[in-house]
Amino acid sequence: MQIIREAAQLAPALIALRAGGASLALVPTMGALHAGHLALIAEGSHRADRVAATIFVNPLQFGANEDLELYPRQEEQDARMLEEAGCDLLWLPKPEEMYPPSFATTVHVTGLGDRWEGEARPGHFDGVATVVAKLLASVRPDLAIFGEKDFQQLAVIRRMTLDLGLGVEILGVPTVRDHDGLALSSRNAYLSPNERKNAVALPEALSSAAERLRAGEDVTAVLDESKERLRAAGFSRVDYLVLVNAMTLEPLERFGGPMRLIAAATIGRTRLIDNLAVEEA
Ligand code: PAJ
Repeated sequence: MQIIREAAQLAPALIALRAGGASLALVPTMGALHAGHLALIAEGSHRADRVAATIFVNPLQFGANEDLELYPRQEEQDARMLEEAGCDLLWLPKPEEMYPPSFATTVHVTGLGDRWEGEARPGHFDGVATVVAKLLASVRPDLAIFGEKDFQQLAVIRRMTLDLGLGVEILGVPTVRDHDGLALSSRNAYLSPNERKNAVALPEALSSAAERLRAGEDVTAVLDESKERLRAAGFSRVDYLVLVNAMTLEPLERFGGPMRLIAAATIGRTRLIDNLAVEEA
């Protein structure tokens, strides 16, 4: 696996990687890699001749009171994991090369990016859309792969890619979960053993809500009770736990069509997000 640290080395490395007309998949990450990220690399190897990954803890997508400084950084271990997973090229952009003092452009996805995570974390999706647009423009892959774990992020990136005509296929990969059902996340490292044990209430609340909705129970009642269940399990704050249209992410009061349950809740000092598809009965 080739490791690129200077932006100037990227273009020649990409030419070599694509020699003979090889197709290329890109997996953008912020590092602190786990099996969820590696599932994206595996999907990339399956779908394209070559796979490239980026690790960049993107300052633009962190709010003033968020965990930018604390965000786990483990570059050597990440590089080893990527190499073992079959990644061909790792690009580690430098913040000063990504955002020189003259940098003045923001990509804002209206509507889709404004609700849920967008409301709880103002500016977050502007940071995500801007950095992903930049990464796609720099690497020019055929395919870029993202996790369904960040369901709204995936929707925002799909919209942005279509709207800007970037000509890159966007592929979503199902969420990889721990043995008890908790979605793998770099932020799970912040959980104390007791919080980690109680955090499983989040995926449990989503799957039990999905089952009850499928059985025809009232949407509002099911959502209210699910939020109560999270609080009883030790979550101090539930930002949202809602049934949404899986395409528009608009809230649904009635069961039907393509649906997703999406949630964000805080346990201890850690904010977790998760989501689940809801099939029609
Ligand atoms: P990060 O949180 O590092 O995640 C990188 C990619 O891995 C994202 O597409 C995310 O959805 C996916 N991922 C994370 N946990 C997963 C899991 N348990 N199962 C499957 N996929 C999972 O998301 C970001 O970084 C950033 O916002 C980024 C897109 C890189 C832009 O900075």
